[in-house]
Amino acid sequence: MSNKIGNGYGHSKIILIGEHSVVYGYPAIALPLKNINILCHIKKSDKSLRFDLSDPVSTALYTSLESLNQKDACVEYSICSEIPQRRGMGSSAAVAIAVIRAVYDYFGKTISDFELEKLVNQSEIAAHGNPSGLDAKTCLSDVPIKYIRNIGFKSLEFSLDAYLIIADSGIYGKTSQAVDLVAQNELINRPYLKELGQLTEKVESAIKTHSLEELGHLFDKAHKNLEKIGVSIPEINVLVEESRKSGALGAKMSGGGLGGCIIALAKTYEEAKTIASHLEEKGALKTWIEKV
Ligand code: MEV
Repeated sequence: MSNKIGNGYGHSKIILIGEHSVVYGYPAIALPLKNINILCHIKKSDKSLRFDLSDPVSTALYTSLESLNQKDACVEYSICSEIPQRRGMGSSAAVAIAVIRAVYDYFGKTISDFELEKLVNQSEIAAHGNPSGLDAKTCLSDVPIKYIRNIGFKSLEFSLDAYLIIADSGIYGKTSQAVDLVAQNELINRPYLKELGQLTEKVESAIKTHSLEELGHLFDKAHKNLEKIGVSIPEINVLVEESRKSGALGAKMSGGGLGGCIIALAKTYEEAKTIASHLEEKGALKTWIEKV
């Protein structure tokens, strides 16, 4: 085993609709972003690791080594990531998946999806405090999913022949702070959270009927609700607004908020490119175009 390198990968994700309301038991829809990846390599070292269980990567290393009875193993790790951190693109879940897979690979063991998800969620607790499990589930899925906390998920395979523009505001998202903020004003926020849940159902219907205009309109409505519960910020609102001005069918923030990313919907690749470059002119740090 001495020269062996353990390899593990994970991929990014983006929430289409239902962030925050998913914490309260309402449905959410999210997509894996399989072209935006993270890799972890594990190799032998001359000393064992020191763990910090407030850190998601360290938690993933600890839980996976512990589950293999190898807590004191002399190993070191390296991570190579295309996923920007703390932008609502699932970097914490994806890195945990990559680390756990790499640890298991290093020891020549396989891990079931069930066990992997359990370990990832422990690492997500270190990252977000009270995760709904949506990020872990989406980063473990190869297809879009509809997810309900504590109930389960179903695959939503669809092809809309449309394009999603993802734009990074360049500002760190603050998921646990945003989740706490929503909880502090739960009574006031309840109607907006309920409506977000209803919008998720409508998004599922619009996907089924390929109603792109309706889908864009639902994104706009969801963004308004997310603003009302206080998880958007002016810089994000500007990107949402500019998406619409440059031809998007609709746009919204995505993920925990207080920073992070927005998503916008376009009918054609040409339109998506126009919107993406307009957003970069208006301050987006980076954009991605995903066929949906
Ligand atoms: C974070 O990516 C999404 C939130 O709904 C939190 C969660 O689901 O745990 C804000």
